[in-house]
Amino acid sequence: VPGAMAAERALAMATCTAPVNIAVIKYWGKRDTDLILPINSSLSVTLHQDQLKTTTTAAASRDFAEDRLWLNGEEVDVGHPRVQACLREVRRLARKRRGSSEDTATLGLLSYKVHIASENNFPTAAGLASSAAGYACLVSALARLYGVEDELSEVARRGSGSACRSMWGGFVQWQRGERPDGTDSLAHQVAPETHWPELRVLVLVVSGQKKPVASTVGMQTSVETSPLLKHRAEVVVPERLAQMIRHIRERDFEGFGQLAMRDSNQFHATCLDTFPPIFYLNDLSRHIIALAHRYNAHHGHTKVAYSFDAGPNAVIFALADTVDEFVEVVRRSFPPAANGDQFVRGLPVGLATLPQELVAAVVTEPVPGAVQYILHTKPGPGPQLVDDPSQHLLGADGLPRRRT
Ligand code: DP6
Repeated sequence: VPGAMAAERALAMATCTAPVNIAVIKYWGKRDTDLILPINSSLSVTLHQDQLKTTTTAAASRDFAEDRLWLNGEEVDVGHPRVQACLREVRRLARKRRGSSEDTATLGLLSYKVHIASENNFPTAAGLASSAAGYACLVSALARLYGVEDELSEVARRGSGSACRSMWGGFVQWQRGERPDGTDSLAHQVAPETHWPELRVLVLVVSGQKKPVASTVGMQTSVETSPLLKHRAEVVVPERLAQMIRHIRERDFEGFGQLAMRDSNQFHATCLDTFPPIFYLNDLSRHIIALAHRYNAHHGHTKVAYSFDAGPNAVIFALADTVDEFVEVVRRSFPPAANGDQFVRGLPVGLATLPQELVAAVVTEPVPGAVQYILHTKPGPGPQLVDDPSQHLLGADGLPRRRT
């Protein structure tokens, strides 16, 4: 038991990593903003942590004078209500689990203040939603610190709705639940990351992004004003969710891709139906959408599928045998500025020579420099414990180690 000997020590520490996820049936809208209960179920693909991950170290010590939190090396306010909700809920589970008396060690730990340090292995400026990985990682590290092994998606949900889906690898459903207290609003795995080995993900990071409307604020305005969102949650999503699970089980890329695109488009339609409207897609996102449709039309079936969250970056799903060619299509369509930055990052991408008819049909309106870079990744596992103590983000003094 990790906590058992901890009280003997001055300092207990645990480090975990957690993944980013991208929804293919989108979550947009809460029925309870405090407990973070959604108006509809959602389904996502967990991305591999070799390319995108958050690492978090949580430490407890009788020598700490106050709770403290560092994000990417900078101290931030630990009093944020969502951080506090996660702390409170993990501690509550630890108390419940330990009963009232026996485990004095964990009880000791629970009375200590905590220091938490968290960082991402990808630039925040990339505009990739990091709150899901961030809260999933916070909850995983705290649970490990206190020796909690319960179902934790319910706790991660209190940090950020989409974070509950980052508690599992592979293909993950967040069930909306029915109960007002949220105890049945949980994430579970539909299929593990090994289920569909050919599936690949390309994140197209677009240049010159503005700070968009935060999803928390945007989705509440949508709930209050969009009749389309209400119809979507009540009628469209329940049907699509069942279909999407079937496509995943059958590894049917045609069905999966079609539905992922349609669902992304409907989410952005509800944003336009919000009053005043919210725009997350920009001209470049629309360019990428048109490009994907031209590419699929040229091949006569669905080879690539796009999905966009609350920002202009495109996430492209494809099978492995399509990646080289499509990356070359993107390179020709958005010729990179020659500033030495690597245009393709992550998993290796092979060279492809494009047939002339493909170029003529698909690469119709190049926009130089519009895509900053492409990140090539694939589905991956859920949160991981980091065993190697040299990987802790906090030093023996409980303060962030100098970052390398
Ligand atoms: C568009 O989970 O960031 O990415 O629960 O308020 O923290 P809060 O919102 P958040 O919303 C994610 C919205 C989305 C779609 C999705 O991930 O399902």
